[in-house]
Amino acid sequence: MISPAGVLTDALPTPLDYAEISREELRERIRARKAALNAVILGHNYQRVEIQDVSDYLGDSLGLSQEAAATDADVIVFCGVHFMAETAKILSPRKTVLMPDLRAGCPMADFVTATALKRLKAEHPGAAVVTYVNSTAEVKAESDICCTSSNAVKVVESIPREQPIIFVPDRNLARYVMERTGRDDIIAWDGYCYVHDDMVLEELDRAKKAHPKALVVVHPEARRELLERADVVTSTSGMVEYAEKHDAVIFGTERGLVDRLKARFPEKTFVPLSGAAVCGNMKLNTLAKLAWSLDHRQHEVVMDESVRSRAETALRRMLELSGGWTAPTEEEKALELAGVHPSGCGCA
Ligand code: 13P
Ligand code: SF4
Repeated sequence: MISPAGVLTDALPTPLDYAEISREELRERIRARKAALNAVILGHNYQRVEIQDVSDYLGDSLGLSQEAAATDADVIVFCGVHFMAETAKILSPRKTVLMPDLRAGCPMADFVTATALKRLKAEHPGAAVVTYVNSTAEVKAESDICCTSSNAVKVVESIPREQPIIFVPDRNLARYVMERTGRDDIIAWDGYCYVHDDMVLEELDRAKKAHPKALVVVHPEARRELLERADVVTSTSGMVEYAEKHDAVIFGTERGLVDRLKARFPEKTFVPLSGAAVCGNMKLNTLAKLAWSLDHRQHEVVMDESVRSRAETALRRMLELSGGWTAPTEEEKALELAGVHPSGCGCA
């Protein structure tokens, strides 16, 4: 399929053609093509099991961005949603970042535009802008610092008390952070995630009635009344760690994660808070599209350099607080300026 010189000899034209191929052959194609391109597959915790199985790294938004910033692969294939692949490109601009399906967007990210954010900033001069990573590169470029579900409290605590905060785009995460930090000066955007915001108390009551001893873990994108009933509020990777330590848990998040945990721990009682909590956007990625993406080096994520570099500043500030990235030394900066890249040169 791939000649010793790395030339593609039997790529099929469309993802639909790849859907005709057996799972084993798709996996073999992915393995061979990945090696030929020096590619890495990054997968979010909500991906289909077939994608999770071939991912080199699986994680939450923070872990994935740390991995994207650190990898020395030449090509990153991002199996998640658009803002996640964009984040990888922002942090690793010299690498080729691919998405198996460009339509895999995050509706929460579309709640706020750069123009609307600029307007809000003009109304609140002096406010710090904290932007959830579930946002576009243009919005990140208008922000002071980014955050994820796992470090939002820490990021907000890093802003001086006397400086008000604009928090976009998730109203539920904003409220959670306000309560955890005791700050009442956060101007929250009115965005939300349809998957988490649709989960209701009645569903939790029903799950609790069926499993009275089960602990409750909820993602901070969910509504306040659910967060108040949770034993723990945490990110998707936080939930995986929680599942490793407890035997009976009700999970207030996308149910793909729960299905995977159930398969991994068949002896434990793991229950989705809501059977309807499915992120259709995340599920657009399939094994067939992933194989097609690698064979055709499609769909490449591209962005304007001035947007990218301003967005990078906001993301790097977050990573400096959360680990996974340290500022380059003066020597590294000089090498970078001279066009010498100590890692990821792709010449190996
Ligand atoms: P995590 O960073 O917790 O994985 O959340 C990302 C997301 O989109 C949840 O809906
Ligand atoms: Fe976006 Fe919600 Fe899907 Fe996460 S679960 S990617 S926030 S739509």
